[in-house]
Amino acid sequence: MAFLGCGYLGTTYAVCFAELGYDVVGMDVNAEKVAKLAAGDLPIHEPGLEALLRRNLDSGRLRFTTSYEDIAEFADVHFICVGTPQRPDSDAADLSQVETCVTDLAPHLRRKALILGKSTVPVGTAEWVETLVQRHAPPEAGVEVAWSPEFLQEGFAVEDVLRPNRVVFGVKSDWARDMLYAVHKGVFELAAVEDREVPVVVGDFATAELVKVAANAFLATKISFINAMADLCEATGGDVTLLARAIGYDDRIGPKFLRAGVGFGGGCLPKDIRAFVARAEELGVGDSLRFLHEVDRVNARRRTKVVQMVAEMCGRTSGPNGPDLSGLRVAILGVTFKANSDDVRDSPALSVARKLMRAGAVVTAYDPEGMIPAKNVVPDAAYAKSVNEALAGADLVCVLTAWEEFRHADPAALAELVSHRRIIDGTNSVDPTLWTGAGWTYRGMGRPSI
Ligand code: UGA
Repeated sequence: MAFLGCGYLGTTYAVCFAELGYDVVGMDVNAEKVAKLAAGDLPIHEPGLEALLRRNLDSGRLRFTTSYEDIAEFADVHFICVGTPQRPDSDAADLSQVETCVTDLAPHLRRKALILGKSTVPVGTAEWVETLVQRHAPPEAGVEVAWSPEFLQEGFAVEDVLRPNRVVFGVKSDWARDMLYAVHKGVFELAAVEDREVPVVVGDFATAELVKVAANAFLATKISFINAMADLCEATGGDVTLLARAIGYDDRIGPKFLRAGVGFGGGCLPKDIRAFVARAEELGVGDSLRFLHEVDRVNARRRTKVVQMVAEMCGRTSGPNGPDLSGLRVAILGVTFKANSDDVRDSPALSVARKLMRAGAVVTAYDPEGMIPAKNVVPDAAYAKSVNEALAGADLVCVLTAWEEFRHADPAALAELVSHRRIIDGTNSVDPTLWTGAGWTYRGMGRPSI
């Protein structure tokens, strides 16, 4: 198997499929990244992945390359794992990396092989990839295309690949379907050993592509729904954490993805819902996804909300240009888009940091894993080496990523470091009674202030 694109997705898949027993090569055009991976050095933070990378490099089942000729000769299945970011000029997905990898690989293919799409793409992409393959691969090779979306969550990526809760195959032929079953044999065998079943959904290209974006749109909607309820709770003195618990007991609703807070971020949910709307508009069914605009707007308001809360707690007035926070020292705990990740793409925490600085606040941030990427994105904030250092002399503390380290911090000891004992919990993850017990004024998202 070859995995094209050694980013988050491709690296995790390459390593996990080597772990399942396949002979795997990871391919990337970035020679520096390939050299790092080949040396057993993981460029991302993902629990458990680096140990598996090293073990499988040592076993000889896993290697990395920058060469299309190499993978064309080596692999029977070529997984497309390249990025599909938002285009700079619109909400649509940028498919240039998909196009490049397919058109660069296809001319080198000499025997029948499967090009298997994993990247999140607008519906219709697999058909287009098929035309690219027809145009660029030698016809006698009989190369086929299939699509099988991934559902891995950062922080749980290894588990999600080895033990998926379902697999989806979008195919056009029996040969491609049989290949996909063969590709996942290791996944099915592991499930059988552990007395689990992995449901398989086999369908056409369009359905397979839509499954992925529909799932992410649903998750985003669930988060924005609970954040909208948080607004209602705040206006009425209710507590959204209790509300979420109470509605979550209904198994038609379920308890997951109902954590109100600073909203969703990351490299997937925000850009996927925008690309989904853009594609629906192209297809003439934009009205059907109009609600996703609202999901996006609810989400964006969460970030401004934190800035308003800071102003309210510190008695700062708001002018036509928003609140004036000049000189206010704010400690930010957490810069990644969620805990157990070093990913700061579209991070709500960094967006709040920027807004606070724009309003005049002096921001010092700390994160257990995300400091280096955060410095690249928001270089003008100050960065501390520890929670204690970040809090020294602060007028207010904002918890913006739900890291365990913050939940287990000692509010009594921290109270001695700050200028004012004020905390905003943008993640609703710290215990309000502990903090108020240590003399802090606490505000959560959609919870009564205490
Ligand atoms: C998401 C999906 O969960 C995966 O299934 C999917 O495969 C992946 O995108 C992708 O498209 O590749 P991920 O971006 O890793 O995974 O992160 P999530 O765990 O979904 O969290 C997304 C954001 O929602 C984070 O900012 C998180 O803090 C926030 N969130 C999550 C909430 O605000 N409340 C919740 O209750 C849950």
